[in-house]
Amino acid sequence: MTKKTFYIKTFGCQMNERDSEIMSQSLRLHGYDEARAMESADLVIINTCSIRAKAEQKVMSLLGMMRKEKLLRPELKICVAGCVAQQEGEQLLSRMPHVDFIVGTQNIYNILALLKKDKSNRRVVTSMSDTYAIPRFIPDASGSAPSAKDASSSLRPFKKFVTIMQGCNNFCTYCIVPYTRGREISRNKSDIIDEVKVLVDHGVKEITLLGQNVNSYAIANRVTQDGSPYSFPQLLREVAEIEGLKRLRFTTSHPKDLSEDLMRCFRDIDILCHQIHLPVQAGSDLILQEMNRKYTIEKYLQKVADLRAYCPDIAITTDMIVGFPGETDQDFEQTINLLEHVRYDGSFSFKYSDRPGTKSTELPQKVDEKIKAERLCRFQTLQNMISLEKNSAFVGKSLKIMVESRGEDGLQGRSEYNHVVHIDAKSSYIPGDIIDVFIVHAGEHSLQAREI
Ligand code: 5AD
Ligand code: SF4
Repeated sequence: MTKKTFYIKTFGCQMNERDSEIMSQSLRLHGYDEARAMESADLVIINTCSIRAKAEQKVMSLLGMMRKEKLLRPELKICVAGCVAQQEGEQLLSRMPHVDFIVGTQNIYNILALLKKDKSNRRVVTSMSDTYAIPRFIPDASGSAPSAKDASSSLRPFKKFVTIMQGCNNFCTYCIVPYTRGREISRNKSDIIDEVKVLVDHGVKEITLLGQNVNSYAIANRVTQDGSPYSFPQLLREVAEIEGLKRLRFTTSHPKDLSEDLMRCFRDIDILCHQIHLPVQAGSDLILQEMNRKYTIEKYLQKVADLRAYCPDIAITTDMIVGFPGETDQDFEQTINLLEHVRYDGSFSFKYSDRPGTKSTELPQKVDEKIKAERLCRFQTLQNMISLEKNSAFVGKSLKIMVESRGEDGLQGRSEYNHVVHIDAKSSYIPGDIIDVFIVHAGEHSLQAREI
């Protein structure tokens, strides 16, 4: 009998990538094979994102298109997982009747039970609990731990994300995450250490510790076997001790919780890459207050200065929202001033988008779409200029690059500052090797180098 096949299409953040990996792993363990394309799969899972309206529209338009596919192949099973599933639940079935199953963010393991058609004939599982145990990822028996993105790759993975906490208690007024991912839950410390060790044993060289707010790690629930107090910087130090690990990163940090102890880690831990993503979201205190971010620009700038004192070459990136309700021209000028002052190495910037159930949706004084677009364009143009200037400072210098892939015209890798680096190299390196290169050219989003 031929095996049933599945295909997973993932939208959104690394947390979703990671959930897809876990679904893919459990399906493979239960006799499914991964299909190369959606069209040839018996089961299609759409793992969804709802952070902004645009992300949700992409999901909805793909689901709409799948209506035809289901008509042509009625035996095809379609499952919607992740944040849109969590948010919409049953409602999604009435809008998209060709969908077979809805699996919420804490229910990805239930996909197997649904497929087996348990007696209740349930099609929707979206329950959430404060005691949810974050699932672990175990490499295949074959020794490889293929990523959900590239299951056909014969390359052994050299870098991996490891979830350390999930959910969020911050309730920034624009953000849907506390509703779609639930309350903060930290993963048991020994599970994390074990998982990193297993991954490193399987050839992984770089680990990124992942959470919506990693600084809250170990605050929400006990994470040590004896219940003794523990913190994120302690975890970083322990993970860094694991033999064979070459690079360590983490994401994401809420500025209000960035402690001196964590800043010291950048100075003291050799393998911790000098790079931090520190989302500020806006440059105006008034807007920050409306966003419920719980810091002022003065406090944020102090943290940036402290970080740079501990680690002068640290690369700092941010997230920025333009056109939050009530954002005036003066407020936006303060965002521009902040960018000029901090000179971020890079940023992700977005037009504010109303999300169902969030507080900011109720705020009056919505900013006109055209003004949002103009502000976004101005912000991004300035950011690109700054990124180019900062990247240009590396030209003529040497950097250590972790090789990520080989293409026709050389290698591609990453610096510890997270630059993408294209390398003119003849030697045969494999992903995960760290090599010395000489930077010859800088662009806004990448560097070019030659092998030393
Ligand atoms: N509108 C626009 N951007 C948003 N983000 C989160 N919610 C919204 C929203 N409603 C952005 C924030 C966050 C990033 C992941 O997405 O900048 O840090
Ligand atoms: Fe959303 Fe704020 Fe939590 Fe980040 S900290 S996930 S922006 S609510």
